[in-house]
Amino acid sequence: MKVDVLLGLQWGDEGKGKVVDVLTPRYDVVARFQGGPNAGHTLEFDGKKYVLRSIPSGVFQNDKMNLIGNGVVLDPVLFMDEAEALCQGGIDLKRSLKLSKKAHLILPTHRLLDAANERAKGDAKIGTTGKGIGPTYTDKTSRNGVRLGDIFENFGEKYTEARNRHIARLEALGAKPDEEELAKLEERWMKAVEYLKEYDIIDGEFAVNDALAEGKSVLCEGAQGTMLDVDFGSYPFVTSSNTVCAGACTGLGIAPNKIGDVFGIFKAYCTRVGSGPFPTELFDETGKKIRDLGHEYGAVTGRERRCGWIDLIALRYAIMVNGVTKLIMMKSDVLDDFPTIKACVAYKVDGKETDRFPYSIDADRVEPVYVELPGWQTPMSEMTSESQFPKEFNDYIAFLEKELSTPIAIVSVGPDRKQTIER
Ligand code: GDP
Ligand code: IMO
Ligand code: MG
Repeated sequence: MKVDVLLGLQWGDEGKGKVVDVLTPRYDVVARFQGGPNAGHTLEFDGKKYVLRSIPSGVFQNDKMNLIGNGVVLDPVLFMDEAEALCQGGIDLKRSLKLSKKAHLILPTHRLLDAANERAKGDAKIGTTGKGIGPTYTDKTSRNGVRLGDIFENFGEKYTEARNRHIARLEALGAKPDEEELAKLEERWMKAVEYLKEYDIIDGEFAVNDALAEGKSVLCEGAQGTMLDVDFGSYPFVTSSNTVCAGACTGLGIAPNKIGDVFGIFKAYCTRVGSGPFPTELFDETGKKIRDLGHEYGAVTGRERRCGWIDLIALRYAIMVNGVTKLIMMKSDVLDDFPTIKACVAYKVDGKETDRFPYSIDADRVEPVYVELPGWQTPMSEMTSESQFPKEFNDYIAFLEKELSTPIAIVSVGPDRKQTIER
């Protein structure tokens, strides 16, 4: 059996959670492979809305195994909050969810370090989600991390060594934590670590490969997006993990030759939250209109998302580094009443036109080149089949498929599970 991967092609918030939930009935296993509670994946069905941060979006379908892979960083407190809410809602999470022993833990001091690092950067701050993501991955790669599997052996020692090292670093940054406040955070954190012990903490790489050997199918759920990948994104304004398809291999223990379809998901326009360059960003009324109509506010932080036109240079690049086989277009309904739509088809870099994604996309070096297309000016959110698509929308799809040399397999016309059209 092959493993399919679903991942974001832009700067995150493309609608990954919604589509994973829609596709889950076709799979036996749904697995998260990177990121942590910086993610906010929104699902809507039966008139209810759910936001998942660390838990895979397959948990709402019965009889599926959901796995938090070794590539994920886990905050026990946020996990407990998220898990308890799901359990109270009737989800049998303790049966369906497994966690990899090799996932790294986000300590309370990692979050303090995240804030202190951002403060130290001043105007150059990344605009992180403040969840301790960067410091936790830093500890992982510098071989100082604390892993989920450690909670069963010499945990106190490992924890204390890490938190003392963090406190020394915080002091150097002029951000020595208040002892009483830290003690409170730690008490809650330790309680949450005990809660974690109620779950199956396993060798995730064996679980996935055993499932494949038994003929089971696996869907990997990405977090963030390709433009936030630590290698290929708009560095240094990125997250600290590999959000690209290769991250599914390292974040779960899946061999590259096991990868089947790679679903690349994008919005019919583009958004970004946090700092960093964004060539097609709109600062005018059109940008505001997209934000209002698309409810473009962060699921985790509530921050306004920056909005702009679709960027085909960035998308083509993302398709290349991920090996995308099928595209999924989200939120096309948000553009329903626009008389015209723009798409960036080239960049002018230092005055010279290129269709290649350059090393730097800083605003003072890159100018987007647009084509203008007619809008469809037809409400689409009630549509249930491709046959109902207006001509201009079909033309938009045909234009994108040609520019991106990849088929668009699914079109989403609203936040609900049901507002999903397969082609
Ligand atoms: P994720 O992080 O990639 O899972 O995406 P988010 O959940 O952070 O952001 C996507 C937002 O768009 C959520 O509020 C979804 O409910 C919403 N959404 C998803 N698909 C559609 C769509 O096709 N149309 C509209 N209008 N909203 C959508
Ligand atoms: P989902 O999975 C959008 C952004 C932050 C910041 C940068 C680094 O919901 O698509 P971090 O906290 O990871 O160190 O922040 O990355 N960011 C996201 N933006 N969606 C996300 O996740 C994001 N996760 C992180 O805003 O710019
Ligand atoms: Mg999100």
